[in-house]
Amino acid sequence: MTIHIGAAREDIAETVLMPGDPLRAEWAAETFLSDPVCVNRVRGMLGFTGTWNGHRVTIHGSGMGMPSLSIYANELIRDFGAKTLIRIGSCGAMQEDIALRDVILAMTASSLSTPSSGIFRELNFAPPADFGLLRAAVDAAERRGARHHVGGIYSADVFYDERPDLNEIMVRHGILGVEMEAAELYNLAARHGARALAVLTVSDHLLNEQALPSEDRQSSFGDMVEIALEAAFA
Ligand code: ADE
Repeated sequence: MTIHIGAAREDIAETVLMPGDPLRAEWAAETFLSDPVCVNRVRGMLGFTGTWNGHRVTIHGSGMGMPSLSIYANELIRDFGAKTLIRIGSCGAMQEDIALRDVILAMTASSLSTPSSGIFRELNFAPPADFGLLRAAVDAAERRGARHHVGGIYSADVFYDERPDLNEIMVRHGILGVEMEAAELYNLAARHGARALAVLTVSDHLLNEQALPSEDRQSSFGDMVEIALEAAFA
């Protein structure tokens, strides 16, 4: 039991999928896991443990933004022994050839700052995905015939960004999409010897302002969850 996760250590699996939205954790657990059991409800941040193809998996919300993700990922790794953490979430696309519902596999995650900035100080640490997970996720996406893109993403501190020049710089440098959690997940995994990856579904497009209607979001996120599960146990 920790401050934010009201579970016993053995309730949490070594492999954890982390959507931002706790209700999406519930949906993914009920849709993809056998015998899911709710293992956390503290502050409404739902977590579920069940099995997928015989493997134990926890699906636990991270909340929105890196400070929130940092709380849950720290406790999952340090107190509950999580070894593989895969963010599953939405992102905004930043390149012309990326469409709504496409999957982005984040090789690195740039940021202006993260909760780890205090440790890194002047070091521009480049938070990377685990290569084995990334490679397995690419294989899984190819097997499923899911449209996917592999490259760098940007983890923002603010959703309502007032700096269009920053977006323009990122587009020019090939950043594929923007979300708000992956960079700190990758930092924490690197620090604690865990494996991390972000598998993202494009929910909106920054260049043409298209967005998925909210009722479409859940159904188009299934590929992402299955890619994450297949990669975790490849
Ligand atoms: N998550 C999904 N779309 C996003 C966007 N446009 N900016 C930041 N996070 C996002």
